[in-house]
Amino acid sequence: YSKSEENMLKAHQFAADFYHHLLLNTEDGEPALNYLLKRGFTKEDIETNGIGWSLPTWDSLSILLQREQYSLDEIVESGLIIKKENDQTYFDRFRDRIMFPIRDEFGKIIAFSGRIIHQSSNEAKYLNSPESPIFHKSQVLYNLDKARGSIRKSGQVILMEGFMDVLAANQAGIYNAVATMGTSLTPQHITKLKRLVEKIIICYDGDNAGWEAAKRASEMLHAEKLKVEIAVLPEKLDPDEYIRKYGAESFKKILDKPHAYIAFIMMHARRNKNFQFENDVLQYIQEVLEHLVGKSPIERDLYIKQLAGETNISEDAIYAQFRKFESDHAKTIKRNYQKDGQTIDIQTRQ
Ligand code: UTP
Ligand code: MN
Ligand code: MN
Ligand code: MN
Ligand code: MN
Repeated sequence: YSKSEENMLKAHQFAADFYHHLLLNTEDGEPALNYLLKRGFTKEDIETNGIGWSLPTWDSLSILLQREQYSLDEIVESGLIIKKENDQTYFDRFRDRIMFPIRDEFGKIIAFSGRIIHQSSNEAKYLNSPESPIFHKSQVLYNLDKARGSIRKSGQVILMEGFMDVLAANQAGIYNAVATMGTSLTPQHITKLKRLVEKIIICYDGDNAGWEAAKRASEMLHAEKLKVEIAVLPEKLDPDEYIRKYGAESFKKILDKPHAYIAFIMMHARRNKNFQFENDVLQYIQEVLEHLVGKSPIERDLYIKQLAGETNISEDAIYAQFRKFESDHAKTIKRNYQKDGQTIDIQTRQ
């Protein structure tokens, strides 16, 4: 870190201590504290994760930082406070929010995410720190600092959508979970995970957005030769909601038998399809066959048998279609290589 980045980190730790104090020791902080307790957080959870609350006033943190001799312009760059255009006044970015510190993989606080306590119509549920010299959203995995040991020991990491889900998993006794910061999975995230493990279990929200995100993430991880499995939650629940509703033991059972990659791809492709309609059948078979390119003969056999059983199309016909698809696919790859000199999309990298 540069000198200026060191100052930003110091200011973040300072702010975290301030927010934490406000949450635990002030009367004003009680509604926020009650909200967390009601959601199942214990005081110990709040301590361990350094959770806090920011005052509704405009500039309490700014004033404190100034009093502590921080260069406010430097802190503006880190996103904690904002400078008003034209005049030389500063105000706090986070006001009246429950404050979740975001740590880098070494445990240093590099950003915050602030949750509103009561959902109002026009405000975002979570406000995150902006990109800054110390916070690169596309690289951060929430809880990686704390989860590293457990990831190594178990040989697997559980990837979630929200840091609230990770915190709920922790409460359920699952310590190898991490989450992206509201972004989809990036190549930088994958590089980080790859250094640590070979097996990733995706456990995203059970809603439509979660299914789509899980498909994209699993394709990326699979293309990077990681072993990826997908735990699917029912009733559109997210991990946090599932744990509250059905308990930790039930959640662990779901994590213990996640779906294999291709099995999930098939489940995803089957969604919203009705095999009474021939177009749906054809589309389904096509989608699944695309994912069987480059797979072992045994996997092919396994999944083509399954396809035949599900759609009532003969295995022979599906095999014939697959061979045709495979040779078309090979031609496409060749064409792309010639155009470009290198691989272009994920599909071609299997
Ligand atoms: P979700 O909407 O699934 O939030 O977004 P959640 O984790 O279930 O939160 P609760 O339970 O309602 O409190 C998942 C992630 O997307 C990002 C956050 O990182 C969140 O953890 N997000 C969501 C935002 O950045 N801003 C938002 O307004 C909403
Ligand atoms: Mn940087
Ligand atoms: Mn969601
Ligand atoms: Mn959610
Ligand atoms: Mn949730």
